Amino acid sequence: MIDLNGIRVKNRFFIGSGPAKYGNGYNIYENPLNCILFKTHLIKPELFGGVITKTITIDPRKGNYRWYKPWKVLRKIQDGYINRFGWNNCGIKEFIDKFYPAIKLNNLIPSIGALKSPREFLIMIAMLNKINVLAVELNISCPHVKIIFRNDLKKLSQFFTQAVKLSNHSLIVKLGAMDSNLARKAKIAEDCGINAISAINTIPVNINGFGICGKSGRGIKEFALAAVSEIADSVDIPIIGGGGIDTESDCYDFFNSGAQAVFFSSMFLAKPLAPQKIVQNFIKK
Ligand SMILES: Cc1cc2nc3c(=O)[nH]c(=O)nc-3n(C[C@H](O)[C@H](O)[C@H](O)COP(=O)(O)O)c2cc1C
Repeated sequence: MIDLNGIRVKNRFFIGSGPAKYGNGYNIYENPLNCILFKTHLIKPELFGGVITKTITIDPRKGNYRWYKPWKVLRKIQDGYINRFGWNNCGIKEFIDKFYPAIKLNNLIPSIGALKSPREFLIMIAMLNKINVLAVELNISCPHVKIIFRNDLKKLSQFFTQAVKLSNHSLIVKLGAMDSNLARKAKIAEDCGINAISAINTIPVNINGFGICGKSGRGIKEFALAAVSEIADSVDIPIIGGGGIDTESDCYDFFNSGAQAVFFSSMFLAKPLAPQKIVQNFIKK
């Protein structure tokens, strides 16, 4: 077992927030291949050090996703993907009551996000205290959440302190490459007792005809590596690094830039069975 500042994992390879949905893969409409591979257990989430869920909010959200118009929320572009799912999710209550008992993973990390106030985060943290998960990821790097903190670092620090005090679980804070005060936010998280940082989220872009959305995949790797190095220079807590990982050697680029673990996200869309091959090869070595 590896100890990432209190988060005990069997290896350093994580499934990043998104492709595993609640640990069980996308539903059949969102991504049929991904769904089939998870349901038939060809993708084995239990092999990974951690499985981070899609971001869950206090209330259920439809987001922008409609099953009859999937191309409106996810598109393949030359060097990766753009998406604007808009946080479609079942809400924290249904996650805890319905999905969590069915999933039976001991490496599950719910990702949570708030839309109106930090209080929503705190309510969800208290609800998650009642279940047994590996850690909880606080997604503060989505445009919606940025509005809550409005770059108010004092408010952020107060929130982290309250979250750490309240949570029975280890906490991970997810940051983005374009976040203002990136290194300072990471340092504040560390000073408040947050256990680890994950970076990076999708990069906000505005692509003609698609509007503001998040870019992921190969084309963002350099931005992700730069962000991880910047964070690593300012904190000692572990960094779970990712963004554009497409091969095993990409993982080593992240380790060499200061990450103690890595996550795969868009790689599950491009070549869904490849991430676990990397984990299996690593275990054999
Ligand atoms: C389809 C899709 C859905 C995503 N959903 C979430 C999400 O709900 N919460 C979150 O924090 N990040 C989400 N992400 C961002 C990824 O977790 C990751 O941070 C980002 O895509 C960069 O990694 P990648 O280039 O390996 O995909 C999503 C990414 C994709 C492609």
